[in-house]
Amino acid sequence: MEQKLSASAPIGVFDSGVGGLTVAREIMRQTPNEKIIYFGDTARVPYGSKSKETVTRFSRQIVRFLQTHEVKTIVVACNTASAYALEDLEKEIDIPIIGVVKPGAKAAAQATRNGKIGVIATEATIGSRIYSEYIKKIHPEVTIYGKACPLFVPLVEEGLWEDPVTDEIAKRYLGELIDIDIDTLILGCTHYPLIRSTVARVMGEKVTLVNPAYETARELRSLLEEKGLLNEAPGKLGENKYQFFVSDGAEKFKTFANSIIKYGILSAKVIDIEQY
Ligand code: DGL
Repeated sequence: MEQKLSASAPIGVFDSGVGGLTVAREIMRQTPNEKIIYFGDTARVPYGSKSKETVTRFSRQIVRFLQTHEVKTIVVACNTASAYALEDLEKEIDIPIIGVVKPGAKAAAQATRNGKIGVIATEATIGSRIYSEYIKKIHPEVTIYGKACPLFVPLVEEGLWEDPVTDEIAKRYLGELIDIDIDTLILGCTHYPLIRSTVARVMGEKVTLVNPAYETARELRSLLEEKGLLNEAPGKLGENKYQFFVSDGAEKFKTFANSIIKYGILSAKVIDIEQY
């Protein structure tokens, strides 16, 4: 049974680190009245090369932490955690929780014309075949081609969003998807929207890029509306509207966050996530 939730309560958003800020940014754009408690697991990133058990254990701790802030809904803003842990988490908590994979899969299933969809993501997300599973539920005839692109995450974190090195790596990773003639490509990792122009240039204009961050924020909005939980009262920046917590390296997090979120990251606090 779901507990009685208040529309003025914040939304909990978490990721393995900074990548989920691309999802938080979309939530800020599409539901501007919502308060957000963001947690980035900067001490234990990356999740993309870890096991299901480890990612699920980490995700449970984060959910427990977010619940201490009495969040009304949780967004798993990490593809890897959505792939590995969401199903378990859904059974364990009594507030709504959504991930980024389902909304991305749905948008891709609707976008494809020739039935060939590419997914780029971490090794874990590709190995889980979760995008494929969801897309096939909607559109069983579609063929899905997964490609792990592990170097994209460090390139993005190094700030090489527009750089010849990133271009070169993108050409290597994406070449086989071009040869297969996919018409839709899912940016199945939180970091990839930040190199969207590079990916778009390499794939060419005939390929539709799907950004699960955007689709997730849309789904969140509908969910809040449906449950009568959309916050109608505009909160003000500076009134703890957006609060950021990390497990390590608050200063580095703040610098990165300020480069993608233009609302000003007022503070980022380090917490000991192992306590939860
Ligand atoms: N946030 C992760 C994802 O979307 C990428 C970074 C990591 O490997 O932890 O899959």
